[in-house]
Amino acid sequence: MDPHRHGARQPERFDPERAAALDDPSRFAYLPVQDVLSLLDIPQGGLWVDFGAGTGAYARAIARLRPDAAVVALDEQPPMLALLQAALDREKLANIKPALSTPREIASLRGRADRVLALNVLHEIGDASLGDLASLLKTGGKAVFIDWNASVDRPVGPPKGHVFSPSEGRSRLESFGWSILAASSFPYHYALVGAL
Ligand SMILES: C[S@@+](CC[C@H](N)C(=O)[O-])C[C@H]1O[C@@H](n2cnc3c(N)ncnc32)[C@H](O)[C@@H]1O
Repeated sequence: MDPHRHGARQPERFDPERAAALDDPSRFAYLPVQDVLSLLDIPQGGLWVDFGAGTGAYARAIARLRPDAAVVALDEQPPMLALLQAALDREKLANIKPALSTPREIASLRGRADRVLALNVLHEIGDASLGDLASLLKTGGKAVFIDWNASVDRPVGPPKGHVFSPSEGRSRLESFGWSILAASSFPYHYALVGAL
């Protein structure tokens, strides 16, 4: 495994060839946007970061519901950002900025985010990226980690061996200094709201 990904559970990077699955509308039935938005609890006029935004399926949906809030949609893969940009060109959303998660971009966002969303990302990111994610939060900020649950049988999502159980996800976050403020679950996902 690439040393940059040390700590991740999924051995390989997300394959952009599978990007269409991210825009499958059936996702919104088992993981409703409104529920993600409630967990995020973005302050009025706040800045939030979608860390590992992919095609921005949830970032775009939330940006539509919360035009007062600005979102930076970060991804490490240019092909994913190209798909996100194409969607934005169609949808004309002004409050979402796609950005490559370069060290410079991370530095420019450091300490500025009211909220960070990591959706289907905790199993993919290495420890160094988890540190980058943490660095984005302003004092008092919160991160919402929602990820595929290794403890349930699912007809969708990565194999169980590529993702964490809720307790493994929680332990990983706690070992990096996160306090878990709330935990909940969806049919195929667990959700953890964390602060540092
Ligand atoms: C499974 S997809 C989820 C995309 C999106 N969150 C969603 O649920 O629709 C994971 C995405 O995270 C991105 N990613 C993985 N590791 C990352 C990192 N360290 N920094 C930024 N993006 C990352 C991948 O390129 C991929 O687009």
